[in-house]
Amino acid sequence: MVLSLVVLISGGGSNLRALLEASEDVEFPARVVAIGADRDADGFAHAEEFGIPTFSVALSNFPDRETWGDALLAEIELWGPDLVVLSGFMKLLPPRVVDALSPRLINTHPAYLPEFPGAHAVRDALVAEVTETGASVIVVDNGVDSGPIVSQQRIPVLPGDTEATLHERIKPVERELLIQAILDVANGVVDLAELGR
Ligand code: GAR
Repeated sequence: MVLSLVVLISGGGSNLRALLEASEDVEFPARVVAIGADRDADGFAHAEEFGIPTFSVALSNFPDRETWGDALLAEIELWGPDLVVLSGFMKLLPPRVVDALSPRLINTHPAYLPEFPGAHAVRDALVAEVTETGASVIVVDNGVDSGPIVSQQRIPVLPGDTEATLHERIKPVERELLIQAILDVANGVVDLAELGR
């Protein structure tokens, strides 16, 4: 089965780019059909390069999170995706959106969940002075990075690591985990609905 993907970003979209490169291989069982963001994200440059349509739905244009979420969901659903990937999307989705999409909604996270959930996972790992952190792919639920784990890998924290150096070592692992997770879902090796049971 070839999965159609909508990917949501907020920033530079380097993990998105890796996914776009992977899906250039005709054997890869997924295609990105649209890329959305909550702002005019820098990562839209990758969308333009790969000829993928984009949409942007900014929270500031709506009276509350719920109506923002409904507008975002409407944009996503226009594309009828099999799977929605949060790849550096830095806003919490309202429960109505999560309930409409999950378990066909996955997120990459730069820590070994349930350790260091939230928006500053790499910084939090350094502050905690742990000797290893990690990367995770999860199914999104209505908590903060609390959904069922699809896959994860440990990554050592090295002496002298800064938030930037550690994050740059985590991201390639995230990319591998994400691409493998999509392969596994497409090939029926992983059943996202089963993970939460
Ligand atoms: C990635 O490390 C992703 O896991 C993280 O943002 C980065 C996006 O990088 N997401 C979170 O922290 C979500 N809580 P990118 O824009 O270069 O792909």
